[in-house]
Amino acid sequence: MENLIKLAREGRLEQGLGLTFGQTHRPNQAQRVSYDIEELTKNYRVGSKADGSPYRFQILTYGCQMNEHDTEVMAGLLTAMGYEAASSEADADFILFNTCAVRENAEDKVFGEIGRLRPLKNRNPELLFGLCGCMAQEAGVQKMVREKFPWVDLVFGTHNIHRLPALLHAAKASTETVMEVWDKAPETVEDWPKLRKDSIRAWVNIQYGCNKFCTYCIVPYTRGVERSRLPEDIVAEVEQLVAEGFREITLLGQNVNDYGVDLGTVNFAQLLRRVNEIPGIDRIRFTTSNPWNFTDELIEAIAESEHVAEHIHLPVQSGNNEILRRMNRSHTREYYLKLVDKIRAKIPNVSLTTDIIVGFPGETEAHFQDTLALVREVEFDNAFTFIYSPRENTPAANFPDSATEAEKKDRLRRLNEVQYEISLRHNQALQGKIVEVLVEGESRTNRDVLSGRTRGNRLVLFPGDLSLRGQHVQVEITEPQTFLLKGRLVQANEVVS
Ligand code: 5AD
Ligand code: SF4
Repeated sequence: MENLIKLAREGRLEQGLGLTFGQTHRPNQAQRVSYDIEELTKNYRVGSKADGSPYRFQILTYGCQMNEHDTEVMAGLLTAMGYEAASSEADADFILFNTCAVRENAEDKVFGEIGRLRPLKNRNPELLFGLCGCMAQEAGVQKMVREKFPWVDLVFGTHNIHRLPALLHAAKASTETVMEVWDKAPETVEDWPKLRKDSIRAWVNIQYGCNKFCTYCIVPYTRGVERSRLPEDIVAEVEQLVAEGFREITLLGQNVNDYGVDLGTVNFAQLLRRVNEIPGIDRIRFTTSNPWNFTDELIEAIAESEHVAEHIHLPVQSGNNEILRRMNRSHTREYYLKLVDKIRAKIPNVSLTTDIIVGFPGETEAHFQDTLALVREVEFDNAFTFIYSPRENTPAANFPDSATEAEKKDRLRRLNEVQYEISLRHNQALQGKIVEVLVEGESRTNRDVLSGRTRGNRLVLFPGDLSLRGQHVQVEITEPQTFLLKGRLVQANEVVS
């Protein structure tokens, strides 16, 4: 078993187990491969349990949309193995934590949950725990699992998701944690099997990894260097989704406006235009874009592509040039403000959202005031705000810091206060107006209320019948709030004054 674990750690488990795949692949060797789900799962199918019931899985997903989408891929693999989705953790035979490493509190939450759910193993001796996603890429987390959470049966990283069937099979036979984490992306995988969560909105990966190396961020280490999918593969996937009836496609990448840089034959603006031309396509979104390399060509492509929604998430992180420089952001405050002006000039109804970090090492009250001033000046529609969280092995983790935790919390509170006031004011401007909403389904808390989003990505709640799911409807805004708009359905022939 030691030997097997050693092979697994070195990413050579398949040789160790004598497993055969559609093709042999080695970590550290860049290539583009296509997997056949049949090949990936045929040796690892599960039958029924002793009582005749199926094996069931539950995936707990943390973090960004990239992770949400990886969960769909893993759910697809597990389903092909013969697993069914469990209704709760208590009902599952395999609980998989798909984790996020961007901030420490997300990591603490995962370890807390792993501890909390451990007793389920007493009730179900067949229950296996797995940990994957960005946390699994961290050496510190691997060590922590070995030392403090040895009841976790399987650990695998972001670069070998396709190995899940083989690794789960190995974990079942092993009394020790099976760990297989590759430190580099060996390939860009096409043709993932996916079990999509939604039937209206779908995510499509266009690019993996990030080359930006912002000094606070762990993502370039956990997700590897930027790799773009081929445009024809992306277009084919979107065409298929359109044919299946999906209404909204979100193109996903850590840094979408760098899409194609590694291919050298296409850029993001061209890709957007190509996707926009797909017959039957309804709404297109993309995330996340970086202020750097947000070209005039891209602004024009967004403005001129009728299906591309008017929403740009444009993380600014700080409003102070000294902090931006230390963050290794490639933009300055002035560059960012000019970019916002250019975007607003070309796309008048655009909804702009951002990410901001407060309490970056060395941030003074004066630096923070620059951030507040930028937020007031830009007037974002919404902002995701965070207190800086030191991440092991990232440059900023070693930067000197003098602000106290209380000061950082206070900055976050003051920043949110400013932003909430702006968000509410922007939403109040829609009072009595009619907005177009793509109906996504029932609201989370009330089955008689539908929820959907405007093109600008504003959440709208209104009473209505579920038969409207997937349709575009007109809603009059009657009760704007800070984070959502409440309204009423406007009938097709209704005249609203
Ligand atoms: N601490 C706090 N926030 C972070 N982010 C990334 N790394 C950190 C960190 N170490 C934030 C950034 C990024 C968003 C996804 O998470 O604002 O845009
Ligand atoms: Fe992290 Fe910066 Fe890359 Fe965004 S652009 S994923 S913040 S390194």
